[in-house]
Amino acid sequence: MSKYTVALIGGDGTGPEVLAEAMKVVRAAADRCNITLETTDYDFGGNRYLATGEILPDSALDEFRRHDAILLGAIGHPDVKPGILEKGILLRTRFELDQYINLRPVKLYPNVETPIKNKGPEDIDFVVVRENSAGLYTGFGGVQKKGTPHEVAEQCMVYTRFEVDRCLKFAFDIARKRNKANTLTLCGKTNVLTYVYDLWERAFHEMGAAQYPDIKREYAHVDAITMWMVKNPEWFDVIVTGNMFGDIITDLGAMVQGGMGIAAGGNINPEGVSMFEPIGGSAPKYTGLNVINPLACIFAGQMMLDYLGEQEAARLVETACVDFLKSGRLTGLSAREIQECGLSTTQIGDNIANRVATL
Ligand code: IPM
Ligand code: MN
Repeated sequence: MSKYTVALIGGDGTGPEVLAEAMKVVRAAADRCNITLETTDYDFGGNRYLATGEILPDSALDEFRRHDAILLGAIGHPDVKPGILEKGILLRTRFELDQYINLRPVKLYPNVETPIKNKGPEDIDFVVVRENSAGLYTGFGGVQKKGTPHEVAEQCMVYTRFEVDRCLKFAFDIARKRNKANTLTLCGKTNVLTYVYDLWERAFHEMGAAQYPDIKREYAHVDAITMWMVKNPEWFDVIVTGNMFGDIITDLGAMVQGGMGIAAGGNINPEGVSMFEPIGGSAPKYTGLNVINPLACIFAGQMMLDYLGEQEAARLVETACVDFLKSGRLTGLSAREIQECGLSTTQIGDNIANRVATL
């Protein structure tokens, strides 16, 4: 019997609702697989900040470090200036726990509608490995003469060889583990960002040639890749890229796989504590209405089980989600559409948890 401790951060808006459903399903899978889960609830988010002024105390980070994983609902509150909570909770946790990989699968499940014409689940199944600790997100730079006509603003894209190498290694390993097309595509901008993406490109080919001769290497500029992801998503197996480009192309990826109602990701520290989350936001206008689609958070829970080493439990969750989608009760994935189908957030959670229990 294995045992894990999981930190739960419901966060803002509909975050706590989707997290509750995800945990229902995760617990059902844990029960089936003889796994004990001990959870700790944290109330970080906009409401706590507005009431106490506290965003994320250092002590919380120490506590997170003592857990095996973190599952997050959503961050973003309409009464809090954009950036405060995102930087103070989400980015701070990613940085301080050195979750240097942001892994975002782009997989079209059966019965999920994609806006891409004539493409089905057999065409859309790739993962994006986004570097998650550096690049434009580091905060290198600053501002001078603010508010004057001579204001100077600078925000630098900085990468060290170490940061690039550890991200590439993860991406090559994932390509090998998937064993699908055994192809890793580097997404960069070597025609303009001739320092940073030159470093990425050299490191990519050096590592690939020396350690991963079985993995085919391809390259695409970031602007071009947005075309190919729409036109020929079947070309991709694993894509690796820097933090900013990864942020942008994974929103496109989320749409290609059916939208924010389904896309999940993991902030991974392969040697430490990782945090899993639905990619979408906190959808404040739907708070408390029991109408938000919990699938993305359920898939985040599935990724968490996988990364805890519980492949069988993760497989049960994925199979139950796929069976639920195949049952055809859900025609669309947005809050509006789940309402139209007559399903509530909690009903979807119950339905999938029951399937996990009886698979
Ligand atoms: C994401 C989000 C975050 C990011 C924001 C909320 C800071 O867009 O997880 O992709 O830019 O990484
Ligand atoms: Mn983003």
